[in-house]
Amino acid sequence: MAQISLEKVIKRYGAVQTIHGVDLEIQDGEFVAFVGPSGCGKSTMLRMIAGLEEITGGQLRIGNVVVNDVEPKGRDVAMVFQDYALYPHMTVGQNIGFGLKMRGESSSIIAEKVAEAARILQLEELLDRRPGQLSGGQRQRVAMGRAIVRKPKVFLFDEPLSNLDAKLRVEMRTQIKRLHRMLRTTTIYVTHDQVEAMTLADRVVVLRKGEIIQHGRPLELYERPNCRFVAEFIGSPQMNILPGRVVSSDRGAAIEFDGGTIVLARLDAPVGAIVDIGLRPEHLHPCAAAEADFAVDVDVLEELGSDTLAVCFLGGRELTVRIAAEESRGLSGKLPLRFDRKHLHIFDASTGRRLEAA
Ligand SMILES: Nc1ncnc2c1ncn2[C@@H]1O[C@H](COP(=O)(O)OP(=O)(O)O)[C@@H](O)[C@H]1O
Ligand SMILES: [Mg+2]
Repeated sequence: MAQISLEKVIKRYGAVQTIHGVDLEIQDGEFVAFVGPSGCGKSTMLRMIAGLEEITGGQLRIGNVVVNDVEPKGRDVAMVFQDYALYPHMTVGQNIGFGLKMRGESSSIIAEKVAEAARILQLEELLDRRPGQLSGGQRQRVAMGRAIVRKPKVFLFDEPLSNLDAKLRVEMRTQIKRLHRMLRTTTIYVTHDQVEAMTLADRVVVLRKGEIIQHGRPLELYERPNCRFVAEFIGSPQMNILPGRVVSSDRGAAIEFDGGTIVLARLDAPVGAIVDIGLRPEHLHPCAAAEADFAVDVDVLEELGSDTLAVCFLGGRELTVRIAAEESRGLSGKLPLRFDRKHLHIFDASTGRRLEAA
């Protein structure tokens, strides 16, 4: 079993603390993505789990064994890095088998395991080449091959696709997903790319400044972000934010914003509270003026083919609306919009926390 458990894990470099007491349970076989902006501590977390970085405080267990003081070799984890770290003078086959050789496996066993990894990763034709003769995507597959031949308890990936072009990234994403379905090895995948995190992981852990802000299934985070930070970080294009103010209303609660008023049956905030209204681009719909919640000025149309992103202005504020391609032709000037009540997000403007509304 290879569940991973972090209890109040802290990292300090000298006097500077960068990880502030992280608690997290990862199930055996689970695929978890750590996502967050650059510098939030993703690599540090991963390197502590790998044993490449000492843990300053708290407890780390892998498969029920406390491993705080266990050497990387003793943890039975395999890490795949962004820069691949292949040996340039060795062939693909030798690179994949290197760890087994160091472990003292017999050459027949090594050959068998290398062949199996090469088959899984479609590297069979390339086994005699050297890394310099490979494309970026092929090199990345070799790096993964080196990890899978060891049959580790845990795979750790640190931004493994960030050196690849966009098309290859999507292909490799699919391949990593297939690999996990096939091997069911507990995996932690670090990325700053929320799309990668959302598409790959069973569970996404959002980090910010060395703390977990929220974790959950990808759609949970998308549909119920617990704060404005997660709301804006997850989803592309970004969620639109309109600043507003809670005003009294005889029909419940109301939020006044620059361009209109939203009336709600219930809102967990007092009259006078300053809030942020969050609306995703796909939850805004062009409509007749009489049904509109507010109207925007269309500025730029970005036609993606399947749909169109209309970049609009509401007062001085930019707002993006996702519209079906056939409804977007020739849009210009004033555009009346209505929004889905059930996809409305309200945040406390000062703390950023989600406010319950209905
Ligand atoms: N060896 C180190 N010494 C001092 N500070 C470090 C060291 N490594 C990372 N940090 C700091 O720790 C924080 C988290 O870094 P890192 O884990 O690399 O972030 P991420 O991978 O999310 O971009 C950053 O503020 C970084 O400057
Ligand atoms: Mg990093």
